[in-house]
Amino acid sequence: MKVLATYNIKGGVGKTAAAVNLSFLAARAGARTLVWDLDPQGAATFYFRIKARIKGGGKQLIRGKGDLDGQIKGTDFTNLDLLPADFSYRHMDIVLDDAKKPTGRLRKLLKPMAKQYDYLVLDCPPSISLVSEAVFRAADVLLVPIIPTTLSLRTLEQLLTFRADSGLAGVSVLPFFSMVDRRKKLHRTILETLPAEVPELLTTAIPYASDVERMGLQREPLGLYAPRSKAAKAYEALWAEIEEKLVIGNQ
Ligand SMILES: Nc1ncnc2c1ncn2[C@@H]1O[C@H](COP(=O)(O)OP(=O)(O)OP(=O)(O)O)[C@@H](O)[C@H]1O
Ligand SMILES: [Mg+2]
Repeated sequence: MKVLATYNIKGGVGKTAAAVNLSFLAARAGARTLVWDLDPQGAATFYFRIKARIKGGGKQLIRGKGDLDGQIKGTDFTNLDLLPADFSYRHMDIVLDDAKKPTGRLRKLLKPMAKQYDYLVLDCPPSISLVSEAVFRAADVLLVPIIPTTLSLRTLEQLLTFRADSGLAGVSVLPFFSMVDRRKKLHRTILETLPAEVPELLTTAIPYASDVERMGLQREPLGLYAPRSKAAKAYEALWAEIEEKLVIGNQ
């Protein structure tokens, strides 16, 4: 099982859109995939038309006392399951802080899932916290959407520094451009210059597109309601690129 986390310190950069669309593509290609919506806002859960609620609350689950398996919901799609968000996840930092070895907590929780799933996708809330550290320890890969602006580049640097300082070099970071608007000069400039500075940067960029925004109305992955759109094709190319990296990483 590979654990992928869509992560960025910044909010509103396309983490959830990526988690939903990429996990849909993984499942469609036959991989047994589980999405864990770690964001108390529950956007990924909403997109999959599932109720954002963990029976008994998120606290028990994080403490390893809940029945993780029993909380998993099937989505409308073959091979694709969801562990829903819960509003109590907003306190996850505190719950982790009370735990022994807090940063290894998620990793330990997820271990038994390896038999059932090929991919586990963690959709993370925007922050840098104990939860992030736990995610960094649990994940094999962080998928990091980057809007091509100066501030976004700074947060990518912060993330890379945090990874180095926390001794978490084991998790690979795969940044990719998100919400790209090629009419903007700044976007075009950063698109041209960043690859030389960030060797891990994926080559596929997700365009800014109203088709992606419509996910909120459609409440389903882009590949279903706009399969031929530029954005849907971009997610396909992005997923192909990520899978290729995972294969190389295994060798
Ligand atoms: N490529 C895109 N083009 C246009 N709109 C997009 C695109 N990607 C995401 N959006 C829209 O931008 C908003 C934020 O996207 P999304 O929820 O995926 O970001 P996020 O990083 O998960 O946000 P948060 O930090 O709140 O979890 C949503 O309304 C979404 O529909
Ligand atoms: Mg989100």
